[in-house]
Amino acid sequence: MRDGKIYLLAIMAIALIACDDDDIPVNKEVNRKEYNAENAEWFSGGENGTVFMANRFAYRQPMPFIDENPSYYSQFMRGERIFEKKFVPKNTGMGYSGLGPVYVRTSCIACHPSYGGRGQRVDKYDASDSKNCYLLVIYKPNEPGMPLATHFTGMPQTRAVPPYEPPINESGIHIQWLEHVDDFGNKYADGTSYSLIYPKVTIDQESIIFDESEFDIDDYAVALEATIGIYGIGLIDAISDEDYREQYEIEQIRGYAQGLIGADIEEKDPSNPFPGKHPGRFTYLHTRGTLDNGPGANAIWNITNVTRPERTYHYITDKYAQLMAADPEVQQSLGQTQEEIYSHLMSKDLPVEFTEDDYKAFMVWHRALAVPAARNLDNPVVQRGKELFYSKEAGCTACHRPEWTTRDNYTPMPELSKQRIYPYTDLLRHDLGMKNPGRAQICRTTPLWGRGLMYVISGHEDKMHDLRARNYEEAILWHEGEAMTSKEFFRELPKADRDAIVAFLKAI
Ligand code: HEC
Ligand code: HEC
Repeated sequence: MRDGKIYLLAIMAIALIACDDDDIPVNKEVNRKEYNAENAEWFSGGENGTVFMANRFAYRQPMPFIDENPSYYSQFMRGERIFEKKFVPKNTGMGYSGLGPVYVRTSCIACHPSYGGRGQRVDKYDASDSKNCYLLVIYKPNEPGMPLATHFTGMPQTRAVPPYEPPINESGIHIQWLEHVDDFGNKYADGTSYSLIYPKVTIDQESIIFDESEFDIDDYAVALEATIGIYGIGLIDAISDEDYREQYEIEQIRGYAQGLIGADIEEKDPSNPFPGKHPGRFTYLHTRGTLDNGPGANAIWNITNVTRPERTYHYITDKYAQLMAADPEVQQSLGQTQEEIYSHLMSKDLPVEFTEDDYKAFMVWHRALAVPAARNLDNPVVQRGKELFYSKEAGCTACHRPEWTTRDNYTPMPELSKQRIYPYTDLLRHDLGMKNPGRAQICRTTPLWGRGLMYVISGHEDKMHDLRARNYEEAILWHEGEAMTSKEFFRELPKADRDAIVAFLKAI
């Protein structure tokens, strides 16, 4: 008997150790709670949209109802494969093809590692580096609205399928991380020092395919934008426009942290379940209004340049097409004339590479990525942190609005209706008065849900729109401008209370 017990304990110990291993059961649930009004806060993604998981698979789970519905399940899995898959040029391999002629990356997961893990701060822009999730941004800094450079696509491409050439040669992109000293000499009130760094990005004229007379890089600025995390995006989509507009009105009444709401965007796509006009709510700059015309739905076309039924044209600029078509080497290699090459590149009627069914499955996956449940909310330190986070003096909740309830009838996926969710964002844009913010100077409040698992999932915690913050403390210390009082409050706290706020942020 005794031996048997020891043996059992040994097996249990191995099972515990195995938690850090590849053998970990992917669907292992932790500390599951009963759903009721009192426990609602543990369910960050609402009763239907939350998974109780805290391991490195926590950002890639389907919402629980997906498993119970065979049709949803198979579509979710098909969508997941599309997200993970590397696309290849036409006729060069099995699976998803149609990559190019020019492209940003070969897959979604290249920029969204572990789905919501975000990339890492890097010193070198290399689209093949799995740590580099950056999107390059080239814009006119001194013109109203900071317009993007129109010689390049909005998401500039640095790769091409030969014989085409990339519009920008990556070796000419330089990223520097510079030290920033704030008005407090980078010191907390208790005398402890901190360090802040920010990026400076430049591109050599010689690495750009256009001549200086055609495109002068000195007239432009370059910035990097990093990924946010994609779980729970269906729930954000399910918040009604009315509630969203109401949040904006509420912020206008108070004298601080008033926020900007996205300008109305016309959703013309016939397959969009929400035709009409919607305020932009997705991306740092609110350039997308609905998920069906959101960053993911667009990326599946413009990151890889793979055509689909309502996008039978390339993501390409006319200037680039003209240049490539006129290139004798490209003509010779393709055995085509300048006119033929140009009309292929700019054609509005290309063959479809990505089927409507694939796209639909992709959207099921996209909508139903679950939010990991909150953890440790009953821990006294976390509770102290919560008290501080919610306090009027800290002011965090002015922008990081804890709770929303989704609309009554979210037609594309009814399970996402009437969910009480905890994303900790007002979805509005604010100016945090950051040094060298790039184009995202007035940036959407990032949802804080689930981010505490980032270290477990990605092995780092780089934060903010360009990943300049290396941990939670630095992220808070970059809050100036509209959030200056929050920074000052945090800076003046004793260490134990600063740690408590971070413990709370890690728990939600
Ligand atoms: C070049 C890197 C890159 C690739 C590749 C990429 N994304 Fe993104 N994605 C970003 C960045 C950067 C953001 C956030 C900033 C923004 O959109 O303003 C983002 C945002 C998103 C968001 C919105 C998150 C939110 O809360 O608003 C979703 C959803 C998304 N991407 C899905 C996808 C899908 C699906 C694919 C593949 C088809 C993909 N992305 C490929 C860089 C990338
Ligand atoms: C005026 C609005 C505002 C206030 C007040 C505010 N924040 Fe933020 N917060 C933002 C915005 C906007 C961002 C995104 C900035 C960026 O990415 O450049 C952000 C980002 C963050 C991030 C990083 C998110 C990530 O993963 O990149 C953390 C952590 C955070 N805030 C915590 C706090 C805490 C704690 C407080 C209170 C002490 C607070 N914030 C007060 C608007 C605000």
